[in-house]
Amino acid sequence: MKITPAKTSRRDQIDFDQLTFGQIFTDHMFICDFKDGAWQTPEIVPYGPISIAPSMSALHYGQAVFEGMKAYKDTAGGVWLFRPDENFNRINRSSERLSIPAFPKEYFFEGLNALLKLDQNWIPTDAGSSLYVRPFVFANTAGIQASPAKEYRFMIICSPVKAYYSGAMRVKVEEKFSRAAPGGVGYAKAAGNYAAQFYPTGLAQKEDYQQVIWTDASAHQNLEESGTMNVFVRLNDELITAPTSDSILDGVTRKSILQIAKDKGLAVSVRPIAIAELVEGHASGALKEVFGCGTAVVISPFEGFGFQNNYYPIEAPTDSFAQMLKETLVGIQYNTLEDPYNWRYKVL
Ligand SMILES: Cc1ncc(COP(=O)(O)O)c(C=O)c1O
Repeated sequence: MKITPAKTSRRDQIDFDQLTFGQIFTDHMFICDFKDGAWQTPEIVPYGPISIAPSMSALHYGQAVFEGMKAYKDTAGGVWLFRPDENFNRINRSSERLSIPAFPKEYFFEGLNALLKLDQNWIPTDAGSSLYVRPFVFANTAGIQASPAKEYRFMIICSPVKAYYSGAMRVKVEEKFSRAAPGGVGYAKAAGNYAAQFYPTGLAQKEDYQQVIWTDASAHQNLEESGTMNVFVRLNDELITAPTSDSILDGVTRKSILQIAKDKGLAVSVRPIAIAELVEGHASGALKEVFGCGTAVVISPFEGFGFQNNYYPIEAPTDSFAQMLKETLVGIQYNTLEDPYNWRYKVL
C-alpha cells in the first residue's frame, strides 16, 4: 500500500468540544480502485476532494453501499475497533446485492490499521467520544448505461464524534411509507435506502417526532427498525427484537446486545413484534421500555411512540435494561471491562 502523508495536520485547528456528527474529517483517507476486473493497489492520501465524471454511474443509478463503525481510545492510549469483521462481511453482503465486486479482506484491514495509526491523534478521549469510521464503495464508471459499472472505488474516511445525545427520542410508527420490502435491499447498507427515508422522516419531524419506526411493507403491522437503529422492546421482563430478514439490517449492536442480555440471564426473544402488542402493553403496564440501538447512538431509549394519532409515553423504569446493557457494551468497546467474547480488535 502506498501512503502519502499530509504535509501538515489540521488536527490543532479543530474545536473538539464543538463537534457536529460527521462534519469534520481527519487528515487522511483510504482509496482503492477496481478496474480491469481487479482491485488495484490501495493508497492512503491526504483527505480532500475527489474528481468524478458527471456521468459517473453511482450518481445516476445508486450503485453505492457503505458501513459505519467506530474506533475507541482507552485511557492508556490503546486504540480499538469493535467487531470489525462484522462490518467487513456486511459491506460485501451489501455489495453483492448491488452487483458491486467484493472487497478483499486483507485490503480492508490493512487500510483500517494504517489509517487509524496515521490519524490516531484524531480519536477523542472524553467519555462516549470516538472516531466514526466510514468505509464506502461506489460505481465509478463514466457513462450512463443502466447496467453494473466496470469501475468502482472503495474508500474509508474518518470523523471524530462526541457521544450521541439525541435528547428525548419520540418515534412515530409509520403506516404509509415503507423503508424496505421483501426481496428488496433493506438488509443492505445501500445509499438509496437512506435517501428514501428522508422524506417520511421529515414529515414525522414536523409532528415533533425525531424518527419513525418502520413497519412491514405489506400490512404495516409489525415493527421493523427505526432510522439507523434496530429496535428492542421490553414487555414485563422479556426483551424482544424482530428477527433480521431481507428488510431489516443485521445490526452489529443488536447482535451484541442479544448476546450480552442472554449472558446476563435476561429472557430474550427474537420474534416478530406487532405494534398492537405495544399498544396493549402500554394499556396493561407490561410495556416497560423501547429502545433503538446502533453504532452511532449505541443505545437510545424512546420516551414514547405515536401511532394512529395517539401518543403513548413510556416512562423510564428504575431498573432499565437499556442502561444496564449499554454499560456493558460501552465497557467492552472502551476497554474498561473484560471482553469474554473477543469482540475488541486491537489496532494500536
Ligand atoms: C437501517 C439501519 N438499521 C440498523 C443499524 C444498526 O446497525 P449497527 O449496530 O451495525 O450500527 C444501522 C446502522 O448501521 C442502520 O443503518
